Amino acid sequence: MRVFVVGASGAIGSRLVPRLIDRGHQVVGTYNSPGNAERVRALGAEPVQLDLLDPRAVRKAVLDAQPDAIVHQATALADVRFSRNLDRTFAQTNRLRTEGTDALLAAAREAGVRRFVAQSFASARYARVGGPVKTEDDPLDPTPLPSTRESNAAMRYLDQAVTEAGGIALRYGGFYGAANDGLVEPVRKRFLPIVGNGEGVSSFIHLDDAAAATVLALDHGEPGVYNIVDDEPAPAREWLPVLASVLGAKPPRHVPRWLAWLIGGDLAVMMGTESRGASNAKAKRELAWTLRYPSWRQGFVAVYGSTAPADGRSPRPAPRATGSPS
Ligand SMILES: NC(=O)c1ccc[n+]([C@@H]2O[C@H](COP(=O)([O-])OP(=O)(O)OC[C@H]3O[C@@H](n4cnc5c(N)ncnc54)[C@H](OP(=O)(O)O)[C@@H]3O)[C@@H](O)[C@H]2O)c1
Repeated sequence: MRVFVVGASGAIGSRLVPRLIDRGHQVVGTYNSPGNAERVRALGAEPVQLDLLDPRAVRKAVLDAQPDAIVHQATALADVRFSRNLDRTFAQTNRLRTEGTDALLAAAREAGVRRFVAQSFASARYARVGGPVKTEDDPLDPTPLPSTRESNAAMRYLDQAVTEAGGIALRYGGFYGAANDGLVEPVRKRFLPIVGNGEGVSSFIHLDDAAAATVLALDHGEPGVYNIVDDEPAPAREWLPVLASVLGAKPPRHVPRWLAWLIGGDLAVMMGTESRGASNAKAKRELAWTLRYPSWRQGFVAVYGSTAPADGRSPRPAPRATGSPS
């Protein structure tokens, strides 16, 4: 197939392009920052500069490329400072997920593109009731926190627009896979505490496993939503100390909910105590997807292990699969 990858220069795009080429696909890869053409070319794709928020440019780029498939991996989270207000942090990404998706879907229709896959998100999106691990059929959070309403609405919009158009929305877990991942510095500096009972669940995914699932979805997936997460959704009280240990940092602090609320706002409290994780059962079953890092326990060691100071502390290995829904 001829595949048009939007965001080919990004964290996931740059791991996706070589896999698509290995699989025999031809790739047109878009970038937004002017300096990234060579990066995309070096991955083996034909580089095209594109601002997804310019619908006329999107139409032209897609019609020129004449792809069989489009993969939308554009987000704008590089260099953002995560604040108490997620919607402020995600404002541009929300536009890429709404206006950008609309522009791409319109261009795809006009160009007769058969396959459409887009990046969505799984972790902390499902309703904060019942068991800790949710499937694609479980309801999304009907009352997202005020500071996350626009971001949740943008993801919901993308999921619906893409699947109604016969495409696939991939709800990825929290990405990790590079030494400078967003979690590294806050955990190293002990800025990320265990809040209250620490029972807020997160789902993670190594970028390589996310890219592998994306290639499979493009080739085999049926229209719909897939959670692309690892086998071990885990509460903060489990994953946070392990990550600190792997990084050679001191263990995370414990803070009561009221203090977390004062310091980090309602988002910090929700993520630390209430959020739900996601099950990957559907993706494994329907895409025949196998993970190189079935648990963040192995993945964190593989990615960050060598970055830890040599202080004799060793990370806890023991992978444990608890990815079944409840
Ligand atoms: N995706 C998420 O939901 C999420 C959430 C939390 C943390 N993170 C992490 O945050 C880090 C950086 O994230 P990121 O979102 O900046 O990803 P990224 O890895 O930089 O990729 C974003 C891609 O989208 C492209 N892009 C940006 N604005 C665009 C526009 N207006 N039109 C078309 N394409 C556009 C970028 O192009 P250029 O690079 O050429 O500008 C790039 O190819 C990553 O490590 C990621 O794992 C991601």
